[in-house]
Amino acid sequence: MSALPSSPSPSPLPRPRTVLVTGAARRLGRCIALALAAEGWQVAVHYRASKHDAMQTAEECAALARTSAAFAADFQDEAAVRALLPRVIGHFGQLDAVVNSASLFEHDDARSFGFSALERHLRSNAAAPVMLAQALHQHLGERAAAGDCAARGVVVNLLDQKLWNQNPDFMSYTLSKAALEAAGTMLALALAPRVRVVGVAPGLTLGSQLLSAERFAQLHALSPLGRSSTPEDVAAAVRFALENRSLTGTTLLVDGGQHLMKFERDFSLM
Ligand SMILES: NC(=O)c1ccc[n+]([C@@H]2O[C@H](COP(=O)([O-])OP(=O)(O)OC[C@H]3O[C@@H](n4cnc5c(N)ncnc54)[C@H](OP(=O)(O)O)[C@@H]3O)[C@@H](O)[C@H]2O)c1
Repeated sequence: MSALPSSPSPSPLPRPRTVLVTGAARRLGRCIALALAAEGWQVAVHYRASKHDAMQTAEECAALARTSAAFAADFQDEAAVRALLPRVIGHFGQLDAVVNSASLFEHDDARSFGFSALERHLRSNAAAPVMLAQALHQHLGERAAAGDCAARGVVVNLLDQKLWNQNPDFMSYTLSKAALEAAGTMLALALAPRVRVVGVAPGLTLGSQLLSAERFAQLHALSPLGRSSTPEDVAAAVRFALENRSLTGTTLLVDGGQHLMKFERDFSLM
């Protein structure tokens, strides 16, 4: 009796990809985390103080993508930033992307400016994202050395349209985002080809306690397109940046064209 040709062994299922979204307990970071989970990404939800909200985000991500987990870290603390990726990788086994959405946004201007405010903004808004990119690059290098030749990753940095449309409010915040934008260029060169680095710059997307709902709606409409960005628009741009293998060292401005206009003050003070 001749042997039947053996049926081809089933090809292994594609490995689920894992992304760390910082500042994902609430607001834009949460929306990005849920949008990525809906695409099948395993999401590591980072938070600082919003533990309850982070657990809620992780639970909702897990319902969409089988698993998720929340990780606390204060980005003022260099040791905590350094420890974050090893904790995430220890939990999920590996990491493929980082979305840097966490951000400090405290008011200062040319009169009140001081070293302390600048240093705090630089730590959480520029130094931590750079350090997470550095750690992702190192992790992918270790995977490549272990035989995963296809190990490639992406870092998406949340910027702000106001870098292209400056006003003197929130001076330390703006300087920290300018530093992150410049770091995006340097990292895109330094970490290629293993890691792509892409900026996403929203316009006015979510209000704050500084703006009434009515004022927010007026300011949101103040753009060439008659609407700035929604959280869904921003999350869609992040997804595009993660998937498009030709993008690096550039920024997607997702703001209805607000960066083409000139505003004398920050939206929250207009
Ligand atoms: N919202 C907008 O309209 C808008 C417009 C332009 C650009 N953006 C950019 O888009 C991103 C998300 O915006 P958002 O409004 O969602 O941000 P957000 O609410 O101002 O801040 C997001 C999270 O950052 C975390 N965070 C702050 N300081 C931290 C620290 N020292 N260590 C670790 N985490 C820290 C906080 O986490 P905990 O709550 O857990 O403490 C906070 O919930 C930001 O990068 C922002 O600059 C937003």
